[in-house]
Amino acid sequence: MLKISNLKKSYGQLQAVKGIDLYIEKGEIIGLLGPNGAGKSTTISMISTLIKPDAGLIEFKETDVLKDPKPIQKVLGIVPQEIALYPTLTGYENLKFWGHAYGLKGHELKKRIEEVSEIIGIKDRLKDKVEKYSGGMKRRINIGAALLHKPELLIMDEPTVGIDPQSRNHILETIKSLNEEGMSIIYTSHYMEEVEFLCDRIYIMDEGQVIASGTKDSLVSSINGDRKVIVSFAKDPNGIKDVLEKNAHVDKVTVDQNQLTVYTKKKENLIKEVVEASSQFDIEMTSIDVENPNLETVFLKLTGKALRD
Ligand SMILES: Nc1ncnc2c1ncn2[C@@H]1O[C@H](COP(=O)(O)OP(=O)(O)OP(=O)(O)O)[C@@H](O)[C@H]1O
Ligand SMILES: [Mg+2]
Repeated sequence: MLKISNLKKSYGQLQAVKGIDLYIEKGEIIGLLGPNGAGKSTTISMISTLIKPDAGLIEFKETDVLKDPKPIQKVLGIVPQEIALYPTLTGYENLKFWGHAYGLKGHELKKRIEEVSEIIGIKDRLKDKVEKYSGGMKRRINIGAALLHKPELLIMDEPTVGIDPQSRNHILETIKSLNEEGMSIIYTSHYMEEVEFLCDRIYIMDEGQVIASGTKDSLVSSINGDRKVIVSFAKDPNGIKDVLEKNAHVDKVTVDQNQLTVYTKKKENLIKEVVEASSQFDIEMTSIDVENPNLETVFLKLTGKALRD
């Protein structure tokens, strides 16, 4: 549906996007995951035809978007990172404004505002001024505005930043069901959990580049990371460490005060083995925790830094 090749953009001396390739098939939901300044917003602004790339190609259904932006503009819904609403107007009036901008009017517009406010779960507050809304409600209207003309391709730039957990869950569920009904979605975030939950494929971005891409599973297995079993004891568990180190599935064991960490690449975790080893000693176990490698681990491994500071 959409294909981007070697896309570049600089702001003065700063190379914000340094040659990005990506694609989305019809019906997919893809994620752009990366920390602040990675170039996510710049990339999607170029896709949305809001800014012009310095170099590269954007193809939408085999047409060159830079030569003819109309086909993509007609079917695109954009949820910007900055909330774009008029605070002194009501939710309804804001949706009406955006509906007009998308060329809707009359009965059709009214019907779509009703449908969309149902989808975003804000029907009972439409008559209130937006300045009275919580952050989550503003976000929902912002999303609703982008849905009025039933876009084929929806581009969302960090739509859950700064909102309460309930609104966040509602928004994530809404996005999931829009996708299940056939909408193609490009989702931008620096929250690993969100892209893991939503996206078929993920592009991990850092400093203007895509540093890895693929499904969550393929990304995680590409780094061949360790699972960790972290066990706390009532006293020093060094004797248990010696026993576990003899286990063929254990790669490494460390002890820090009363906490023991077992590293393994085995498919299952090692809880049973740890419990059995502990039972040979008379030391009470106080907690047990298993950490599996995830996209955060992938990012850390590739860049040497955390996804979020
Ligand atoms: N209009 C602009 N003028 C100058 N520099 C800019 C402009 N927009 C973005 N930048 C810079 O380009 C780089 C990439 O910014 P971009 O907004 O694309 O990143 P991002 O991944 O969306 O980050 P965030 O998670 O903070 O939204 C950053 O260093 C940013 O400061
Ligand atoms: Mg951004």
